Amino acid sequence: MTPELLQAGARARQRHEAPRRDGPSGGRAASYGRVVEPGTLDVAHGAILYLEDITVSFDGFKALDALTLDIAAGELRCIIGPNGAGKTTMMDVITGKTRPDAGRAFFGSTVDLLRHSESEVARLGIGRKFQKPSVFEQLSVYENLELALKTDRRVRAAVWAQLSGAQRERIEFVLERIQLKAEARRPAGLLSHGQKQWLEIGMLLMQDPKLLLLDEPVAGMTDEETERTAELFLSLQGEHSLVVVEHDMSFIDALTRDDPQRKVTVLHEGRVLAEGSLAQVQADDKVVEVYLGR
Ligand SMILES: Nc1ncnc2c1ncn2[C@@H]1O[C@H](COP(=O)(O)OP(=O)(O)O)[C@@H](O)[C@H]1O
Ligand SMILES: [Mg+2]
Repeated sequence: MTPELLQAGARARQRHEAPRRDGPSGGRAASYGRVVEPGTLDVAHGAILYLEDITVSFDGFKALDALTLDIAAGELRCIIGPNGAGKTTMMDVITGKTRPDAGRAFFGSTVDLLRHSESEVARLGIGRKFQKPSVFEQLSVYENLELALKTDRRVRAAVWAQLSGAQRERIEFVLERIQLKAEARRPAGLLSHGQKQWLEIGMLLMQDPKLLLLDEPVAGMTDEETERTAELFLSLQGEHSLVVVEHDMSFIDALTRDDPQRKVTVLHEGRVLAEGSLAQVQADDKVVEVYLGR
């Protein structure tokens, strides 16, 4: 293990002593007011996402090998793992892009994700951020957010004039969250890489997803942008559930700073190798061997 990691581990262990602010499923989970279709999302048992024995094979190679994982409502979960561990494939399964050969995937305790198409999964309230930003460069930041609203069929079906006040408010709210208020009228193409990533996260937020899946969101960001991204995600937990897949340990460190007990899952060869606080997984010999101790 590198000295840096040891230091990070020591810091995390110190923080370990600090009192918890929230229970494991997050007291803020109660703020789950808005359900797309009444009764479709039942998080009464605490889990917003439940994967059981998910197996995905590509020509006999198991990208996911009986993966079992659950995410609590309102939780911000960090998932780390070496290249090829199956992190992106896991997101593909959750979002209906890839059908597993075996296993079960539930959103809340009643929605069987494996029975829904990619667009249905998005409408159920699962937003996904791919690695590469894909904003409309010619349009302004504001227009990008506006467009994100219009692709929402629930909104499109409603009376635009009546809702526009609330929609404008939503845009203002999201602009503030992603710290792009001052850039609202600028073409998105002129933003920095980090700002484009935030804008895309903002576009997802326009749909008010219950669960956000973020695949290596700070890749290519400056240290300062990485730090601000951690703050953004921390501000979203509770209201939303987040699954953050990342390589960058300094980012995971920033995401666990407020809560040293925050659960970190280590994936390896398509299954969970270790799960626990950052300090716990960093001290795990199996993890050091396959991931951290290179
Ligand atoms: N469509 C595919 N066809 C064949 N192999 C794939 C496909 N998608 C992913 N894989 C393989 O599955 C493994 C897991 O990939 P991935 O989920 O992208 O890992 P990670 O995101 O953790 O780096 C890798 O070995 C990768 O090469
Ligand atoms: Mg990946």
